[in-house]
Amino acid sequence: MLNFDYSIPTKVFFGKGKISVLPKQIKKYGTKVLLVYGGGSIKKNGLYDDIVNGLKKNSIEFWELSGVEPNPRITTVRKGVEICRKNKIDLVLAAGGGSSIDCSKAIAAAYYYEGDAWDIIKNPSKISKVLPIATVLTLAATGSEMDTFAVITDIDVNEKLGTGHPDMAPRFSILDPTYTFSVPQNQTASGTADIMSHTFEAYFSSTKEAFLQNRMAEAILKTCIKYGKIAIDDPKNYEARSNLMWASSLAINGLLSFGKDSNWVAHPMEHELSAYYDITYGVGLAILTPHWMKYILDDTTVDKFVEFGVNVWDIEKGADKYAIANAAIAKTRKYFVSLGIPTKLSEVGIDESKLEEMAKKSVRYGKIGSLKPIDHNDVLSIFKAAL
Ligand code: NZQ
Repeated sequence: MLNFDYSIPTKVFFGKGKISVLPKQIKKYGTKVLLVYGGGSIKKNGLYDDIVNGLKKNSIEFWELSGVEPNPRITTVRKGVEICRKNKIDLVLAAGGGSSIDCSKAIAAAYYYEGDAWDIIKNPSKISKVLPIATVLTLAATGSEMDTFAVITDIDVNEKLGTGHPDMAPRFSILDPTYTFSVPQNQTASGTADIMSHTFEAYFSSTKEAFLQNRMAEAILKTCIKYGKIAIDDPKNYEARSNLMWASSLAINGLLSFGKDSNWVAHPMEHELSAYYDITYGVGLAILTPHWMKYILDDTTVDKFVEFGVNVWDIEKGADKYAIANAAIAKTRKYFVSLGIPTKLSEVGIDESKLEEMAKKSVRYGKIGSLKPIDHNDVLSIFKAAL
């Protein structure tokens, strides 16, 4: 029975030139900003200058935290908290992909917490208040620009954990697809796989009556399939970049999952790969997903895979159910390969040595997955099949 509360509070400014709204929007929250970004892509594509010019012209004071790592580290979060406290920051502004945004969210949430920032990553219930957060997105992938989560890594202990709080939703996000023209092939591929994976997490659910959510999920998957390859072949294609960008936000902002049972499966498995091997996030997801699909395909799940094959991959109805399901899985794998993503864990430097440990940690809170929950032995089999 569908039964849910709906709230997607982030205000979105979408389109070329929307950076112009930034100063006015910031001033609703104050005049002291911490600008958080990564390794320098925003300096190369002009976004840094666009932001800084706008802030200076409007007498908005700002401090910078640069060098946020892909798979952002808790050490960087701690640095950000220190800057915010010392300078009484009013708003944390992330400019970049999911890593810069997640780091900003963790800083904003740790700001009001008296203990160490890692505590609020391990235990979200310790978050009581959050500094306002805003984002300028440069990579269509995680959907962090419109959701309430952050994923932070403590590489010293091989832990990559997600945290969240309703107030961690950005107050506003600026989505200008032209800032994604510079995203390289591998990150475009990884981002597209991440968007598809978020959609799969909502789509392959045990909740049967969410007809509308399922059709919206299929539309997002078709959008990724159509435009992921175009964006790789023609990086400045505005139509492709804008469709991917909007798909990224809608895949995880709750639209697809409100009312559905959702117990994620590919992401908890992948988080362990990133925590131990620091691999590109979407690549891990794309390698694991077809193996997970194959592993859970049985009489209890085959109808869902038929729905997926017919509605997403346009496979003709009426053939044998398993033939449709297997063809859909094969097409999914083939699509990731067409984006240039490897198909084996060994290709990204992962060997057998840590599989058992990673499998155990994937299910640290119990079985994962909604359509067909899996345990530690199942995860281990999937990892082995993906080697
Ligand atoms: O650091 P810079 O120089 O900015 O370069 C980045 C980085 O090297 C580069 N890049 C980003 N925008 C670019 C660009 N290069 C050229 N032009 C641009 N316009 O791309 C690289 C990857 O960036 P990153 O932010 O790490 O990627 P992504 O957006 O995929 O974020 C990955 C992180 O988000 C987490 C992941 O676990 C991972 O830590 N996730 C967060 C989620 C959430 N908050 O809801 C859900 C996701 O499933 C995911 O877990």
